[in-house]
Amino acid sequence: MSILTVATQPIEGQKPGTSGLRKKTRQFMQPHFLENFVQAILDAIGGAAGKTFVLGGDGRYFAPQAAQVILRMCAAQGAARVIVGQNALLSTPAASHLIRLNKTDGGFIMSASHNPGGPDEDFGLKFNMANGGPAPESVTDAIFAATRTITEYRLFEAQNVDLSSIGETMLGPMVVAVVDPVADYADLMETLFDFPALSAMFASGFRMQFDAMCAITGPYATEILEHRLGATPGTVVNGTPLPDFGGMHPDPNPVWAHDLMSAMFSPDAPDFGAASDGDGDRNMVVGRETYVAPSDSLAVLTANAHLAPGYRGGIVGVARSMPTSAAADRVAERLGVASFETPTGWKFFGNLLDAGRVTLCGEESFGTGSDHVREKDGLWAVLLWLNILAERRQSVAEILAAHWRDYGRNYYSRHDYEALPDDVANRIVGGLQARLGELAGQELEGMTVASADDFSYTDPVDGSVSEHQGLRIGFTDGSRFVIRLSGTGTEGATLRLYLERYVAGPDGLDLDVQEALAPVIDAAEALAHIREISGREGPQVIT
Ligand code: G1P
Ligand code: ZN
Repeated sequence: MSILTVATQPIEGQKPGTSGLRKKTRQFMQPHFLENFVQAILDAIGGAAGKTFVLGGDGRYFAPQAAQVILRMCAAQGAARVIVGQNALLSTPAASHLIRLNKTDGGFIMSASHNPGGPDEDFGLKFNMANGGPAPESVTDAIFAATRTITEYRLFEAQNVDLSSIGETMLGPMVVAVVDPVADYADLMETLFDFPALSAMFASGFRMQFDAMCAITGPYATEILEHRLGATPGTVVNGTPLPDFGGMHPDPNPVWAHDLMSAMFSPDAPDFGAASDGDGDRNMVVGRETYVAPSDSLAVLTANAHLAPGYRGGIVGVARSMPTSAAADRVAERLGVASFETPTGWKFFGNLLDAGRVTLCGEESFGTGSDHVREKDGLWAVLLWLNILAERRQSVAEILAAHWRDYGRNYYSRHDYEALPDDVANRIVGGLQARLGELAGQELEGMTVASADDFSYTDPVDGSVSEHQGLRIGFTDGSRFVIRLSGTGTEGATLRLYLERYVAGPDGLDLDVQEALAPVIDAAEALAHIREISGREGPQVIT
């Protein structure tokens, strides 16, 4: 056994996006592609010597082979130990927890999140830091820079390590510790939520459907909901992780989780429904005949978190990504705690969480989480909802309606125009950007433009500045729309149009969302010409 040094050269297109590097699987499988990127990560973090890492992923196609490469590269570069989820499986929040629990130097997460998996779909790799959170921009920039100058990578010549049995083996001088991917995470959940109360609720006939979408949350949800909390067997559906997610698009929203939606809107609907994404960090929650928009979910969780044991002392603050609705801000204001508006992507919450300035965080893209880990956490959100339902003894519909009566309602929707040619997307965004300065005061659809800017964020903890995080147009009545390009797609450009309108109530709290937003939708088209320039009749996905 020896260390191989392989000559290589930079490969185009290794710039990490909103959440790590995501590419078509076949591209990741090309010679040197994965190796170059892993070497760039190890170089950017100052080498692997003496370090301990966590490794796992959502089990998608190519992950078993990728895990072996990462292990051999860590071994060749002097890492002391790598903690691997059995069969290289770990949900993203569980990986974040293991990084923190074992006080490691970081971790590799093999996932393309909610993007489909398989030889013709997507693969991804992300590095998380010692705090358990995604690498900040300073590090992802350094990784990208390293991919541009790379000349060689090093890997240990050895047989594949058996990752199917729990226990420790050696890979040359490095310890490979294969661990149960679920146990520590499930234990953490038990410290945050009132498991006896939840068990009692299930024992009294409360029914739930959890759609794991053939992705990583299946084993976690089965252990926690069915085994530890006694939910009826069969509560978890699509519970076995498959390399291609059974052909599903493992994105928990009303469009892709349509089976769950129809179950929840059927006459025999259970009391509560939830779904999670490929790597287990996203969640969608649904009541009987009641869809909960993620922005509303964040607001309801913020208002009610104190009902769960882990948050009984109250929260210190809440952060949301800029395109997320301002519903949570209203709750924070009432609670007298701080609220923050960050760019899209969980990495921007890390500093606020580490500095103890926020307890809860959320994004409109079906992501919610807290300071228990440094990633969004799908099952955590589901358990917090369950804890709130158990305490309030009300239905999801009743809780939501009461919330809107109390705070007013931020009508909200996101329209995605997917796989646009790059030049078309750039023309739309560039065109609006060029006109930002002249928009204030313009009247459209009975509304007046109050402000128009390109969102720039100064991190309140370390002062770092992130520019060009989305174009936002605000109206004097508090309505707004935001336009930005996706940083996670792997095909062409995806343009996201985020729409929001506030209604104080008591009237007008039960409108159809798209109808309520119609003036904002029309104003956005009049200013940005998305349909006109793209030639599309409308968005592909509406959430
Ligand atoms: C999308 C979501 C964003 C989320 C990210 C990773 O990124 O919009 O909120 O953090 O996935 O799950 P985008 O494709 O918009 O860059
Ligand atoms: Zn995800």
